[in-house]
Amino acid sequence: MTAQPTNLSGLDLRAEIDRLRIERKAVILAHYYQKPEIQDLADFVGDSLELSRKAAATDAEVIAFCGVRFMAETAKILSPEKIVVLPDMDAGCSLEDSCPPDQFAAFRAQHPDHIALTYINCSTEVKALSDVIVTSSSAETILAKIPPEQKIIFGPDRHLGGYLNRKFGRDMLLWPGVCIVHEAFSETELLKLKAQHPDAPIAAHPECPAHIVDHADYVGSTSGILNYAKAMTGDTLIVATEPHIIHQMQLAMPGKTFIGAPGADGNCNCNICPYMALNTLEKLYLALRDLTPRVEIEETLRLDAKKSLDAMLAMASGTVGQGDLGRP
Ligand code: 13P
Ligand code: SF4
Repeated sequence: MTAQPTNLSGLDLRAEIDRLRIERKAVILAHYYQKPEIQDLADFVGDSLELSRKAAATDAEVIAFCGVRFMAETAKILSPEKIVVLPDMDAGCSLEDSCPPDQFAAFRAQHPDHIALTYINCSTEVKALSDVIVTSSSAETILAKIPPEQKIIFGPDRHLGGYLNRKFGRDMLLWPGVCIVHEAFSETELLKLKAQHPDAPIAAHPECPAHIVDHADYVGSTSGILNYAKAMTGDTLIVATEPHIIHQMQLAMPGKTFIGAPGADGNCNCNICPYMALNTLEKLYLALRDLTPRVEIEETLRLDAKKSLDAMLAMASGTVGQGDLGRP
């Protein structure tokens, strides 16, 4: 299904992508975890909430989504009349994989008095089984609008759900999924790094386990972490999220130092998202040239999934994609 790079040698891929983006009336959306060469040619780089909003609002005819499958599916759910291509259809997510729709439906059925507040990192089928979707930058705003007595199931990220429970004194039932990337940070190595840079604050994504988040000076979405880096007065930041976001920090703040939080082996290579890494310039070129692989969603399923996404967009209105989740 995924377009396979054939012999593309001799092609100026960047120029070809620029030509095709105009010819196809396409917009290229990229997540901060994409390779720098993809971020650099995207029309817009953002976090999950910002990318959803862009996908819903664009008047382009084609959305080339450089991210993972659940993000491209979200774009298609919100903009069904557009052609949505994902350079590599195998770009999945460990959180989505942890939450098969039939098991999630059974979990819901066991708790009929609970609503399902669900992280956007899940399949379209799970969105269709949910009441409200959240992203890491909209979760706080949305949770604050749900009465404290309302019982809630939160899935599939148990670390984000646990963080929200601790911060807001909720007792949401948590689905046991994790992000394999954020799960790989090592507390011991983080503390060693902090000892070498005692004045450097730590910014962490809420997909990190509690033993990492507990050491963070700031907790928020990818955009939130970027904005924190821009606002900080010091010159060094320890970044506990997927390290490709550091590219945007270096572009915006060339004089500052950004250090990726280490994994258990003492470097941060194990924290590169293997799914995001499947997208390449070659595959993006082929996706724009051939308009494949395309995201297609059956209409009844799409409409069911759209309800929970629309609920998110309505409840998060006013939220800048800045990850206003503070320290617990
Ligand atoms: P945000 O960009 O919304 O913080 O999400 C991070 C992520 O894991 C995307 O897969
Ligand atoms: Fe999924 Fe984690 Fe990769 Fe995000 S970083 S796409 S949550 S595996």
